[in-house]
Amino acid sequence: MTTYLVTGGAGFIGSNYIHYMFQKYGDAVRIVNLDKLTYAGNLENLKEVEGRDNYTFIRADICDREAVEEIFSQNDIDRVVHFAAESHVDRSIRDPEVFVKTNVLGTLVLLNAAKAAWELPDGSFKEGKRFLHVSTDEVYGSLDEDGGYFYETTPYAPHSPYSASKASSDMLVKSYMDTYRFPANITNCSNNYGPYQFPEKLIPLIINNALQGKKLPVYGDGKNVRDWLYVEDHARGIDMVMEKGRLFETYNIGGHNERQNIQIIHIILDTLREMLPGTDPRRALVRDDLITYVEDRKGHDRRYAIAPDKIKEEVGWYPETKFEDGIRRTIQWFFEHEDWMKNVTSGNYQKYYEEMYKI
Ligand code: NAD
Ligand code: TYD
Repeated sequence: MTTYLVTGGAGFIGSNYIHYMFQKYGDAVRIVNLDKLTYAGNLENLKEVEGRDNYTFIRADICDREAVEEIFSQNDIDRVVHFAAESHVDRSIRDPEVFVKTNVLGTLVLLNAAKAAWELPDGSFKEGKRFLHVSTDEVYGSLDEDGGYFYETTPYAPHSPYSASKASSDMLVKSYMDTYRFPANITNCSNNYGPYQFPEKLIPLIINNALQGKKLPVYGDGKNVRDWLYVEDHARGIDMVMEKGRLFETYNIGGHNERQNIQIIHIILDTLREMLPGTDPRRALVRDDLITYVEDRKGHDRRYAIAPDKIKEEVGWYPETKFEDGIRRTIQWFFEHEDWMKNVTSGNYQKYYEEMYKI
């Protein structure tokens, strides 16, 4: 049985990945989920897997060296999939420090603990051990509106404190591969959407607000472009890189679903109207005039876009879910999980939201 240490497994992508892994491998894998449960970590995301014998949750901070070393000494970890991070650009602009702590120092602590557990006396590493660092395409900076793509060879040029901290963590992983031949991969993925996404990110925020007849905040002119990927496709990509990717390589995940933010908002509004029956009182709340242009994000990257040639050629991965299907599945999930949304939007998130938008 292969034992995985998943960090940040109670967050959006981590919890989708854990569900994907149990659906695919059942009892053939064991997963240890290490998560601090920040505002973004939610154990409700993992209710269905809690009772499994091959699943363990450990609440700890990846910056806590002793706690992380203890996990490696108590478990024969074969593979690390490292999601844990502070992940929201707007928060990083307001409070960068925690981004450096978690994303940079936390990654270093994990690298050191894995290296110590896996290294043999001659400096090589035990057979089959592997560390996959989950990162973002935002490390590459911003593309012009009229063309070009991010490739694995694109120089790093991060702009936000979030992307700078992720770029630093990528560089640390690269340095461990170069210096120690530490067995790792890096994946840089485009914007994800899907079930369990915290409603501070564009798509769940718009769905949630529209259903309540609340204003829909659009930064700047609304024409910034993101390359959206359904989260299950990302989970499959990570698994495929782990199984088939060449060690020490970086793979970009995403591709060819570029949309302007304002287009995303209109698609969500149209799809909500299509999916809500006429008798549902929420249907009348979903209106185009909720769209509200607000002050632009500072340093707002104009366009992100991935050409997924390398992962397609070497690993056989491509994005399977068409955006029109993925967004319907996401909206359907939010319809069926109203309580999840209510729990998440109470308390801390509400306070943050009011301070951030003042609308
Ligand atoms: P998220 O914010 O939803 O989840 C992050 C998780 O990490 C939470 O469960 C949180 O409790 C946990 N965490 C935070 N600090 C921690 C700490 N110090 N110790 C232990 N756990 C901690 O984020 P997400 O959207 O699921 O992103 C996961 C990873 O994927 C991140 O590394 C992010 O940079 C990367 N990524 C995200 C996207 C995206 O569109 N969301 C795209 C590409 C890459
Ligand atoms: P976001 O979901 O925060 O992801 P990222 O900043 O990592 O790309 O934002 C996606 C895009 O949507 C980005 O261009 C900022 C924009 N945006 C808005 O216009 N309004 C909002 O309320 C939010 C959260 C984002």
